[in-house]
Amino acid sequence: EAEAGQNRFDEIIAEDSRIEPRDWMPESYRKSLVRQVSQHAHSEIIGMQPEGNWISRAPSLKRKSILMAKVQDEAGHGLYLYSAAETLGRPREEMYDQLYSGKAKYSSIFNYPARTWADIGAIGWLVDGAAIVNQVPLCRASYGPYGRAMVRICKEESFHQRQGWEILYSLSHGTEAQHQMAQDAVNRFYGPALQMFGPPDGDSPNSQQSMAWKIKRFTNDELRQRFVDMLVPQVEALGLTLPDPELKWNEERGHYDFGDLDWDEFFAVIKGNGPLSRQRLEHYRKARDEGAWVREAAVAYANRQSQEQDQ
Ligand code: 3HC
Repeated sequence: EAEAGQNRFDEIIAEDSRIEPRDWMPESYRKSLVRQVSQHAHSEIIGMQPEGNWISRAPSLKRKSILMAKVQDEAGHGLYLYSAAETLGRPREEMYDQLYSGKAKYSSIFNYPARTWADIGAIGWLVDGAAIVNQVPLCRASYGPYGRAMVRICKEESFHQRQGWEILYSLSHGTEAQHQMAQDAVNRFYGPALQMFGPPDGDSPNSQQSMAWKIKRFTNDELRQRFVDMLVPQVEALGLTLPDPELKWNEERGHYDFGDLDWDEFFAVIKGNGPLSRQRLEHYRKARDEGAWVREAAVAYANRQSQEQDQ
């Protein structure tokens, strides 16, 4: 039976169609998907913190309502993704517990502080921009529930990127101090945003197998290159610069060359030693502890409703 399952699985992958929750799949495929999808869900949830921190300080009512909507979108993305991971048989509570205990990984980028209002612009433009470049190919991921969740998420991400762009554009064309604030935010977020694509291909243990399974469609370095190529004309339109003296058009390759990133810093951050790693986790734990009574009350209410229905 396993052999027939494996053959059917190989066929589905070869013809570029989709694996669905009830289909047979290799355990290693299931495991790797749970890994990626749950990390992705955790990233959305932890990613609410740097921006949530600015809701009360947004410079106008309009900016505040846009930011609130954006942070709520991230929560929604986290929930779709936890649901997609659940279809692979991993209970949601278990995923929450892994994040709570500090065992789970989430994107490195969310361990950096959002110091100024311009950082909210840089997060939208660079962090959500990187997320789109990484996630558009994931809409075609071979696992159906993941790919379908990604379609909706990408639509919302493009709105997020535009709002970030618009914040930076306004600041860049404002007073000299505002312009400086925008440039400083781009300077700090550029490198960490490029690292969102993951380690260089030579240090990426999962890429090859994930590409063979058609979960990933491009390597980390391919997507990073695509992102840099996309940023150069955009930063010019913003009236800002990217903080990389080695950034240069390479006629032969038809791409921009760019300088090495600080990979020691990256590996330290993903091991839990980022600038705000501890605070992010503490904040998550506190919110989960303080919300426990709400979850208990919701379960008690649901149980009573179903008892009443049974009578
Ligand atoms: N931050 C933290 N960990 C990272 C990382 C990063 N930027 N990049 C890679 N890693 C981890 C991997 O998870 C893997 O760890 P594991 O083996 O313990 O699970 C290890 O480093 C080696 O990396 P690989 O390249 O071998 O791993 P992958 O093949 O899984 O590629 C990835 C990494 C490109 C991030 C891929 O998992 C992916 O595309 N994931 C989906 C996208 C995602 O998770 N995005 C999160 C940020 S965007 C976001 O949250 C939206 C925003 O709106 C808030």
